[in-house]
Amino acid sequence: MRIEPAVQLTGHVAVPGDKSISHRAVLLGAIGEGETRVTGFGRSGDTEATVAAMRTLGAEVEEISHDELVVSGVGLRGLRGGTVDCANSGTLMRLLSGIALGQEGETTLAGDESLSQRPMERIAEPLRRMGGRVTTTDGHAPVTIDGSSTLTGLTYELPVASAQVKSAVLLAGLYASGESTVVEPTRTRDHTELMLDAAGVIVRRGPATVTVLPGATLRLGEVLVPGDFSSAAPLLAAAALVPGSDVTVHDVGLNPRRTGLLDVLERMGARVAVFNRRRAGREPVGDVQVEYSELNAVDVGAVEVPSLVDELPLVALLASHARGRSIVRGAKELRVKESDRIEAVTEGLRATGAHVRSREDGWTITGVPARLRGGRVDAQGDHRIAMLGAIAGLASREGVDVRGVETVAISFPGFFDLLDSVVKR
Ligand code: S3P
Repeated sequence: MRIEPAVQLTGHVAVPGDKSISHRAVLLGAIGEGETRVTGFGRSGDTEATVAAMRTLGAEVEEISHDELVVSGVGLRGLRGGTVDCANSGTLMRLLSGIALGQEGETTLAGDESLSQRPMERIAEPLRRMGGRVTTTDGHAPVTIDGSSTLTGLTYELPVASAQVKSAVLLAGLYASGESTVVEPTRTRDHTELMLDAAGVIVRRGPATVTVLPGATLRLGEVLVPGDFSSAAPLLAAAALVPGSDVTVHDVGLNPRRTGLLDVLERMGARVAVFNRRRAGREPVGDVQVEYSELNAVDVGAVEVPSLVDELPLVALLASHARGRSIVRGAKELRVKESDRIEAVTEGLRATGAHVRSREDGWTITGVPARLRGGRVDAQGDHRIAMLGAIAGLASREGVDVRGVETVAISFPGFFDLLDSVVKR
């Protein structure tokens, strides 16, 4: 798809429901009691895989409308075993591993080519320590989980800052004897613990720890899913990059463990305003406005990385347009996302005229405060890289050809239509 340069972006939009929260609402609804109504469900390739997975394992999910579901809970141990296609979704595979340990029968979790290359020992290892019989295929999917395992709670220090690994352990902890504690060296998104708490599980939280107690019955009732900050991010980045722009995204999730991009934008000198702060259940929500202004270089380090992990490709693009040299460090995890995002970003941005060098754990970027030439970006099968290419195109002089745009449907099927509604050419 050819993305022509934008003169500016202006307008007010809302984005689909948060992907992380949508996955969790369906998973916890399925092992809960009674009906869970999910309003603002973020429908996408990934979250549809989670709905299909729950149906495969015996839970009913009724689709009331495009963004409203009713999940009929089968109870904590009421799912059956089976073979689940997790498609492209790492969140589904890793969170369901913890849940499957508490169900009768054997569950096999398979995925597409990209997911089958991603590391799964990171969940298998702590789950085995709890007593779970978990096998991976040379460290990857398919992952097989034997539900007859007897689980014991543990204290587990995360070797990588990963909300998915944390969540797998906490969910397995629902089926363990005794408490399960995860120690986080760097804080990661906390949607799982917030939702478990809302469902009635006893959750204790310290500055760097989260503990769950087993044995509760989960009852969610209703989940109001806020807009996905990670889907708002490309629009906000575009507004910061294209002169004359002014974009507001309404009703977007503002969980502080997700909004690191706003801090980075502010440090770069962008004009950011957040208003109408409120809550949807336990999740903070609000409206975010970004207006164009000239950007300065920025440094991003490991402590900040989890709060903008999926937005780092956009940070590299912003830095390419900022005055001075930017460095992103401590982001080695990007090498094991849907693509090797460190290399995919370096290749993609260089092909549009940016000065980007890969580091083992991030990038060094020499920015130029002007439009980049443009060129061709290969999404490499990765939705976040496809969206990066599109935003690079809007901000360029000559436009960008994005190869593999269809992959945006993994997280944000309406991305191009929404973008068109704010772009002036
Ligand atoms: C997610 C956690 C992050 C993030 C992913 C969604 C989640 O992954 O990159 O898009 O929903 O828990 P890691 O936990 O592997 O960092």
